[in-house]
Amino acid sequence: MSAQNAVTARYDRIARFYDLIDKPMDLMGVRRRRKRLLRQARDTTLEVGVGTGRNLGLYSENVELTGTDVSTNMLAKAQQVAATDRIHATFELAGVQQLPLGDGSLDSVTAACVFCSVADPVADPVAGLAEVARNVTAAGLDIIEVRRWGVWREIVARPLESTQDPT
Ligand SMILES: C[S@@+](CC[C@H](N)C(=O)[O-])C[C@H]1O[C@@H](n2cnc3c(N)ncnc32)[C@H](O)[C@@H]1O
Repeated sequence: MSAQNAVTARYDRIARFYDLIDKPMDLMGVRRRRKRLLRQARDTTLEVGVGTGRNLGLYSENVELTGTDVSTNMLAKAQQVAATDRIHATFELAGVQQLPLGDGSLDSVTAACVFCSVADPVADPVAGLAEVARNVTAAGLDIIEVRRWGVWREIVARPLESTQDPT
């Protein structure tokens, strides 16, 4: 089994109780940080590693959201949340290393607690961020802000040589 398949299988297994595990983190301040990050998303937005959809209710109403993940079971939970909370979003099974989207097709890309979960913690975040950059612009990313809070890193970036909002 490949390392990524092992990660996917792990999330497929824990999807049922992921929210229970994650809730204490939210109560310790992660939710506030999710909100601060996600409210910056605009218009056509992709959330990579959307998981069980814990962030779906945190976007502003003008956001047209697509959520991707490698775990079918996590995505199924996200779909349930969207249906229950009447949040319009579409979902696709895809890894951040190979996103099923054309260059420049997005206004914002978000990810929360994903780059620590991918199979190869060195190569995959780089490949994933390169994919994200390609979807926003082929030019790469300009880091606007990094907030540090323990192991948590809150990164706001925007395309290089762009006048778009920093998302
Ligand atoms: C810690 S959970 C975070 C879920 C959600 N973003 C949140 O904030 O609750 C990590 C998620 O990343 C997904 N994931 C792992 N490897 C991935 C990859 N290569 N591409 C996209 N998603 C991946 C997992 O399936 C899981 O849903």
